[in-house]
Amino acid sequence: MLEIQFAPLQGYTDAAYRRFHNEIYGNSIGCYFSPFVRVEKGNVRNKDLKDILPEKNEGITLVPQIIVNSVNEFNILVDSIVSLGYSQIDINMGCPFPLQTGKGRGAGLLSRIDVVKALMTEVRNCQEVSFSIKMRLGLNNCNESHELLPILNSTPLKQIVIHPRIGRQQYKGNVDNCTFEHLYNEITHPIIYNGDILEVEDIYNIASRYPRLAGIMIGRGLLAAPSMAMEYKQGISLDKEQKLSLFLKLHEKLFHHYSCILQGDAQLLMKMKTVWDYQEGSIGHKALKTIKKSTTIAKYQAAVSAIQ
Ligand SMILES: Cc1cc2nc3c(=O)[nH]c(=O)nc-3n(C[C@H](O)[C@H](O)[C@H](O)COP(=O)(O)O)c2cc1C
Repeated sequence: MLEIQFAPLQGYTDAAYRRFHNEIYGNSIGCYFSPFVRVEKGNVRNKDLKDILPEKNEGITLVPQIIVNSVNEFNILVDSIVSLGYSQIDINMGCPFPLQTGKGRGAGLLSRIDVVKALMTEVRNCQEVSFSIKMRLGLNNCNESHELLPILNSTPLKQIVIHPRIGRQQYKGNVDNCTFEHLYNEITHPIIYNGDILEVEDIYNIASRYPRLAGIMIGRGLLAAPSMAMEYKQGISLDKEQKLSLFLKLHEKLFHHYSCILQGDAQLLMKMKTVWDYQEGSIGHKALKTIKKSTTIAKYQAAVSAIQ
């Protein structure tokens, strides 16, 4: 049985979501990755740091992720994450957003071989932390990842997560399993597959196609079907009502949490609407539209009650 890791999803998988997900869906996730922590004006971005505080992530295994374009940024982030007590850090080499890639971060790092070399030297010298990498095949083409192979293979790494798309594709188009297979055969580190896993059957298919995988990382598929890892791990299959009932429990906890920490109804409403972003498949277009169009908390709650 493969380990299932929860992918980092900026705007969705914050500390509250991770903790409640773990509580409701029975410890089915091997580890949760934080959305990337980044440097802002020479320091760690405060909002990012707050999200990874150990006291806000109790009960789960959290791997903080960083996004960097230089050794300087790397050191700023690693120092403060280590001071929180973490001993594993993930390096983002996959973010496709032009705001990051344009500054040489995320997938924009993949073609900057000298910077990757310098970062890997830091990784080698940093004894107290084990590092992992989450990467795409390239920003503009797959050759970028091929060229990194010798550097990656000669650096001690806990694992490499591969999302088999190039940055230019963003999240669209087909995954490139042919290039994935090449990397899977050439990389000497444990490999985690990530991309377009939407149901338990997909986990079995990938596992049998790549028998040496160390695990599977799932993002949007788990937002849409948060019980997927639990069903896979426990070998059970929940019906529609059971899934909805668990999701509403998650929703209730998130609602209570955000109503305590957010200022005012407008903020709460905006945040709560995002909880439904990937639920069209389970509640239908009409119910989703009613939730999204609600203009007050009372209307929002009525729209949610209507789907029960
Ligand atoms: C809204 C959104 C936010 C994301 N944020 C991050 C992030 O902070 N760090 C990261 O490495 N990947 C991020 N990703 C990429 C996902 O972790 C994942 O690699 C991608 O969605 C493909 O996997 P999936 O098909 O299972 O969702 C994000 C993706 C989405 C859609």
